[in-house]
Amino acid sequence: MKRVITHSAEETERLGEALAKQLTGTEVLALFGGLGMGKTAFTRGLCRGLDAPDAVSSPTFALVNEYRGRVPIYHFDMYRVTTWEDLYSTGFFDYLDHGVLVIEWSENIEGALPENALRITISRGENDNSRIFDIEGVEF
Ligand SMILES: Nc1ncnc2c1ncn2[C@@H]1O[C@H](COP(=O)(O)OP(=O)(O)OP(=O)(O)O)[C@@H](O)[C@H]1O
Ligand SMILES: [Mg+2]
Repeated sequence: MKRVITHSAEETERLGEALAKQLTGTEVLALFGGLGMGKTAFTRGLCRGLDAPDAVSSPTFALVNEYRGRVPIYHFDMYRVTTWEDLYSTGFFDYLDHGVLVIEWSENIEGALPENALRITISRGENDNSRIFDIEGVEF
């Protein structure tokens, strides 16, 4: 496991950007951590690192946003997904292996995550602007 502490949203974006360089194109990135922890900020940087710098926002209502970078990116928000039926309707299983999947609120679909998912757990650091990233499953 790798632990990284960031001190601003921009630093969190740069962390996502750095991690993006290690991706081959079919990874599942499972983000854990409550409201406002920086999941979307991290995803924004990740997309920048995958050459998809378009505006990245929480897909709360769409459930999934798609971005075109050097590989396809599928950005999910599972906040409102609480049943297997909900999960099927997001298209999650159809997108697996067809791009990089980034999943906000992975807590809600823990049982459906592939075994090889990269797990990224974000928690608050010692002040309002610090965030602790615990990253499992990838070296960078
Ligand atoms: N170190 C940091 N990293 C990321 N965001 C930070 C940091 N410090 C402060 N922030 C602030 O925290 C908020 C993070 O918002 P963001 O939308 O990325 O969180 P989120 O985890 O996606 O939330 P939600 O659960 O609502 O989707 C922003 O307002 C950002 O400015
Ligand atoms: Mg978000």
